[in-house]
Amino acid sequence: MQNLTQTLTVSLAERSYPIHIGSALLARADLLLPHLKQKKAVIVSNTTVAPLYLDRLRSTLEKAGISTLPIILPDGEQYKNWETLNLVFDALLGTHCERSTTLIALGGGVIGDMGGFAAACYQRGMPFIQVPTTLLSQVDSSVGGKTAINHPLGKNMIGAFYQPQVVLADIDTLDTLPDRELRAGVAEVIKYGLIRDPAFFAWLEANVEKLLARDKEVLAYAVHRSCANKADVVAADERETGERALLNLGHTFGHAIETGLGYGEWLHGEAIAAGTLIAAELSWRLGWLDVDAVERIENLFVRCDLPVHGAPMGAARYMELMRHDKKVQDGKLRLVLLKGIGSAVVSDVAGEAMIAASIEARCT
Ligand code: NAD
Ligand code: GLY
Repeated sequence: MQNLTQTLTVSLAERSYPIHIGSALLARADLLLPHLKQKKAVIVSNTTVAPLYLDRLRSTLEKAGISTLPIILPDGEQYKNWETLNLVFDALLGTHCERSTTLIALGGGVIGDMGGFAAACYQRGMPFIQVPTTLLSQVDSSVGGKTAINHPLGKNMIGAFYQPQVVLADIDTLDTLPDRELRAGVAEVIKYGLIRDPAFFAWLEANVEKLLARDKEVLAYAVHRSCANKADVVAADERETGERALLNLGHTFGHAIETGLGYGEWLHGEAIAAGTLIAAELSWRLGWLDVDAVERIENLFVRCDLPVHGAPMGAARYMELMRHDKKVQDGKLRLVLLKGIGSAVVSDVAGEAMIAASIEARCT
């Protein structure tokens, strides 16, 4: 499967970096060594991923003369917090890691976001590599440099923009991913079709069952096309002053579900799927999206067995939670909405009553 390996670049001048996508990449020291400044690296992982992939990655590096120190964190969104982050700092300091030691995040988006934030903070910034092992992290969170932990009042509220040196997306690691996690990842794949790539949306309509069945070529294509979309957006707007906000389709509503129910209750991708349908409902109420488009979106999520209705927390609770959204400006809620499949906008035109009605319609 080595012939499936493809490389994209996130073009950010001196912070540019490659994304390698393919099979058997955990064995490819050649893809990592050029990015290591020292013959020592720490690997941050968790209690689920480490037993599956840590030895493979360590032996690749150690055979290439790199000593590795694992830092194993508890698994789960509920651990994406200060307490767990401090375990990383304790280990980095306790083992005398230096500013030029590289931190490698081996795991899904939780490990990538926390590892990246730890790397951004430790000695004001140590080099960082993403080795994403979930579909969601391969298509989204490992690319673009958003790192963060959660706060009880809001998701991903404490963090930094901090780009990795390289992203190594080995699609073989998806072999062990539970079905529910795979489907959650597909929600973020569909997002790219909806916000800017209508041909990809149509391709997903034709191929989603093969994707869910983990056909390797289909997976590699979906990861590659998603990363190509993300790399374009990030290159144009690294710090989310404009276009990058479109990557948050469904997230304002979705984050409210995750925070409101307690982190880890719904998977991130599940909350985003439901949030996307609330955004579609609101776009339809504004007259921006026709009923056929809403049905096409709903059908695709249903085929993935993803939620198309939000948690019934009541519109008032959603609105309260959504006030912490990072797109709020001068106290005004801005939402990512759709003007068609493949066309998204950030808008503050919807009034509170219409937003609440859309939530009520989709969260029963
Ligand atoms: P996750 O990191 O919790 O991983 C999901 C589960 O799968 C975990 O139990 C994990 O241990 C397990 N797992 C990981 N790889 C596995 C494998 N290969 N085989 C078996 N099990 C495996 O969740 P996620 O969906 O990867 O990421 C969600 C997180 O990413 C959220 O915290 C979200 O906020 C964040 N996120 C960040 C960005 C960003 O731009 N930084 C973008 C999207 C999402
Ligand atoms: N996942 C949203 C972003 O990277 O901007």
